[in-house]
Amino acid sequence: LSPQDLAGQRFVISAGGTREPIDPVRFLGNRSTGRFGIALALAAAHRGASVDLVACNVDAALLPHHPTITIHEAGSARELQAHMVRLADGAQVVIMTAAVADFRPATATESKLKKDGTVPEFDLVENPDILHGLASDRDHGAYVVGFAAETGDEHGSVLDYGRAKAKKKGADLLVVNRVGETSGFGDVETAITILDRFGEIRAEAGGSKSQMAGVVINTIISSRTGD
Ligand code: C5P
Repeated sequence: LSPQDLAGQRFVISAGGTREPIDPVRFLGNRSTGRFGIALALAAAHRGASVDLVACNVDAALLPHHPTITIHEAGSARELQAHMVRLADGAQVVIMTAAVADFRPATATESKLKKDGTVPEFDLVENPDILHGLASDRDHGAYVVGFAAETGDEHGSVLDYGRAKAKKKGADLLVVNRVGETSGFGDVETAITILDRFGEIRAEAGGSKSQMAGVVINTIISSRTGD
């Protein structure tokens, strides 16, 4: 039996990827499966927390069944934001693992776009940055944790990009997840570095997503209490 050290605490965790409608049948989306958020929800619940899991387009077969996990479904970024803002109020910890589309089609057409010999064009507008909003407006009182899937390139390392993002987002912790051909998406080993809002390293680890979920939760608990 796991220690029930999170009893009495409520975690709000987003998982999966948003879908931004183009027309009734098409969307702009991404490849996030939701596995990391689900692993976090289970890790927190096993330790006694109650969890609101906001699942964005997660395969039903992956969704957890646990008595203290409540699942809320969201489709688009704006639906996700509405859930997160409502649920964050009075929670102890909010974790954004969902891959949120930065842009959405300005208007979704009511009928299916037809193939009529011309190439369709549509404008994009920017979605709200949900994590930045939760980190800026602290009325909810929760500890705020974000995720960043990063790749390195000739201009900077994964850590360089992670540090810049940690400072920009202003979350209490940012979990930097190295993504590439062999890690990041799906059910694979992953490597994480956890940064605070100043870009300082709080933890580094590698392994399965459920092992990494344990590291993330432990780092949240120790950082929040200031050990
Ligand atoms: O900027 P980037 O998308 O890499 O940041 C990733 C983090 O920000 C994740 O925690 C993600 O859930 C969150 N995010 C958000 N709203 C957006 C874009 C990202 O909350 N529009």
